Amino acid sequence: MVKIAPSILSADFSKLGEEIKDVERGGADLIHVDVMDGHFVPNITIGPLVVDAIRPVTDLPLDVHLMIENPDQFIPDFAKAGADYITVHVEACRHLHRTINLIKSFGVKAGVVLNPATPIESIKHIIEEIDMVLFMTVNPGFGGQSFIASVLPKMKELSTIIKEKGLNVEIEVDGGVNEQTAKLCVEAGATILVAGSAVYNTDDRKLAIAKIRGN
Ligand code: DX5
Ligand code: ZN
Repeated sequence: MVKIAPSILSADFSKLGEEIKDVERGGADLIHVDVMDGHFVPNITIGPLVVDAIRPVTDLPLDVHLMIENPDQFIPDFAKAGADYITVHVEACRHLHRTINLIKSFGVKAGVVLNPATPIESIKHIIEEIDMVLFMTVNPGFGGQSFIASVLPKMKELSTIIKEKGLNVEIEVDGGVNEQTAKLCVEAGATILVAGSAVYNTDDRKLAIAKIRGN
């Protein structure tokens, strides 16, 4: 069954703890945390302090999506704050193996993120060393954008490679995921669906999660 990772970017930050508990009760599998630095993307969100603050609130894995330049500088802080997954954008990494090894050195699962226009060739040679590939289906920076369907063939191609090699690598999708687009992602091989506005902009988060999962 596909896993659902609500993105707290669309939550009410004035009651973040309660917003996280609400999706945990609603059947979420991970909590997706969007970190933006105002350089790699045109928005600023949250840092390690917030990850540290929400860590005791939930037993769910914290899936920390770093949309920042020079991620190596901040990986130790996010790892110590309690991240379970840290994903870095291939477009922001000059020495990707080094960055992946740095994440893993803290016992944290490592993932690589591809923007919609980035080809899978950029990660083919590192696929055996990572735990997750995150496909952006919007250009990162904001919640509530429209799904870019041309990413799907790329996802399908990598999913086939992962199956052929018998690897244990999650395929996560982020951006514009809703009840309709979720189906397309699962068909293309996605194993984790991130959803921000489709979960948090509804009153019944349990129902929203069930619909995205396809129940
Ligand atoms: C976008 C973020 C996403 C965002 C998704 O840059 O990485 O995680 O929260 O929001 P929706 O699901 O509303 O597109
Ligand atoms: Zn994200």
